[in-house]
Amino acid sequence: MHSHQPQTLQWNGAEGGYLTLIDQTALPLNVTTVDCRNLESVVHAIRVLQVRGAPAIGIAAAYGICVGLQTIDVNQCTMQQFEERLQHCVDQLANSRPTAVNLFWALQRMQDVAQTMRQAGQLPSQIMPALLNEALAIHDEDREMCHAIGKHGATLLDHGQGVLTHCNAGGLATSEYGTALSVLFSAQDQGKTLHVFVDETRPLLQGARLTAWECQQRNIATTLICDNMAAQVMSEGKIQTVITGADRIAANGDVANKIGTYGLAILAKHHQIPFYVAAPSNTFDLSLSTGKGIPIEQRSSDEITQGFGTQTAPDGINTYNPAFDVTPAELITAIITEQGIISPVSSAAIAALL
Ligand code: MRU
Repeated sequence: MHSHQPQTLQWNGAEGGYLTLIDQTALPLNVTTVDCRNLESVVHAIRVLQVRGAPAIGIAAAYGICVGLQTIDVNQCTMQQFEERLQHCVDQLANSRPTAVNLFWALQRMQDVAQTMRQAGQLPSQIMPALLNEALAIHDEDREMCHAIGKHGATLLDHGQGVLTHCNAGGLATSEYGTALSVLFSAQDQGKTLHVFVDETRPLLQGARLTAWECQQRNIATTLICDNMAAQVMSEGKIQTVITGADRIAANGDVANKIGTYGLAILAKHHQIPFYVAAPSNTFDLSLSTGKGIPIEQRSSDEITQGFGTQTAPDGINTYNPAFDVTPAELITAIITEQGIISPVSSAAIAALL
């Protein structure tokens, strides 16, 4: 993203500060920000997708703890009051969206800091600044991971390739630079010219509204297609690589990502096109042996029947609106992480790298 543009997420001030987010629901028409000064506004921002994308949700949740704790006076409260408020913040944030594991990972990291300090006899007034430091560290580490993913992944792309991506796994879905898009941006920085095909990504159009916008900002040759065009575009020989992000990866390499990803992986296999997933290590959920255990968020039928305010289906029609699907590991050529590339994808290879 250009330096004059706001950051996807930004903490302002010290412990009494607040979180500013790019309001992703307003893109691409308006680049505006929203300030979150309390727990409720962070939970709301995650739920309505003002901030979205697995790593960005995790960072927002960590800062959400920091604003959420501001309702108590850490110089006066008891440890029990502090812990009750922390637990309330964790519960509210954990309820905002179910699929991206980065959210739960970030909340756990925040809880671990508080618990370790309490066990060491530290007071709420000492724990509070440490929690802000932890949130800032989560944010900073994400930047580094995104750039490392890009560096590893760029080795898989050749000059002149057509690359298809789905949803938005760019700077808007992370601290900056992205995961899947980081691979494209890094390849571009190395002088490889690519042509990016962007799936519009029904029903909420993260591809059209966010990825197309990010690619334009970076002057990458970009073509927007509707989701149902991918097979045709592949059969015309325009795509040499498919690359997406991930919301949760099971121990065996099954990948939950935006609805439509699984279909693309099947199409890629049919056309003998490599299918890559780019994600940081905190997107892996090693507690789940396969993708069957990944909770899939169900969203409102309005997103299908009257997306963006225009009714496009008859009144009373039944809908089904899962926001994510699970791509089996066997369809994934490689998973690109900040620690290196996992290929072929297997439980053993994942365990060895992580
Ligand atoms: O519903 P969203 O927009 O939060 O879904 C996001 C995705 O599916 C992304 O592809 C995924 O989180 C990877 S982001 C680096």
